[in-house]
Amino acid sequence: SRTAVVIPAAGRGVRLGPGAPKALRALNGTPMLIHAVRAMAASRAVSLVVVVAPPEGAAEVKTLLADHALPDRTDFLVVPGGETRQESVKLGLDALPEGIGVVLVHDAARPLVPVDTVDGVIEAVREGAPAVVPALPLADTVKQVEPAGPDKPGAPEPVVATPERARLRAVQTPQGFDRDTLVRAHATVTDNVTDDASMVEQLGVQVVVVPGHEEAFKVTRPLDLVLAEAVLARRRA
Ligand code: C5P
Repeated sequence: SRTAVVIPAAGRGVRLGPGAPKALRALNGTPMLIHAVRAMAASRAVSLVVVVAPPEGAAEVKTLLADHALPDRTDFLVVPGGETRQESVKLGLDALPEGIGVVLVHDAARPLVPVDTVDGVIEAVREGAPAVVPALPLADTVKQVEPAGPDKPGAPEPVVATPERARLRAVQTPQGFDRDTLVRAHATVTDNVTDDASMVEQLGVQVVVVPGHEEAFKVTRPLDLVLAEAVLARRRA
């Protein structure tokens, strides 16, 4: 069966500062979304990429895809997104044709993920894992706190626990799934979650972690743009 990628790209990117929707902001002159689409289409296993565009920006995204060089062997679809990331992914899944057995979900906000990471996720799903996430060990120790609340920014927050760092992983995308498993998760789980694998966990299905990559970091804050452009410059050198 074939492999498709759903790219949720409908977020506004508020934490990045004012400007265009995050996925449409440029990295070294090329929109972040185009970098992300190319990173997925770089895998020979990927036959379809579904971009979930900002609700009012679907036409603009179609034009963008048409204006940039992309591999011929890959098909591209653009669908309008929703209010939340979860809704946007669901709208992308609804657009998948028959014959797709493996689905990857990849954030447009991770434009620089290397093709080996993409291939590693696909391979693990093809070998039988229903849900696969790339992840890295943490550099920082992580503390669980009692949040002070949005009305008290900067207030001291009591520490509740310190999970053992060696057992924690920072999760990236693309996350890979057996299609039926992911569709079932999106049809069943209604809690607000921050990644697709946690919805599959809530079904009681085993999720596994494979090695992620430093360059699969998420562009969230202004400093991440500086880092992303430095990575691109190093690749060209
Ligand atoms: O906000 P966050 O960084 O978690 O967003 C992760 C990804 O989900 C981004 O690529 C963003 O464009 C996408 N997203 C979406 N629809 C939303 C919100 C976020 O497709 N309503």
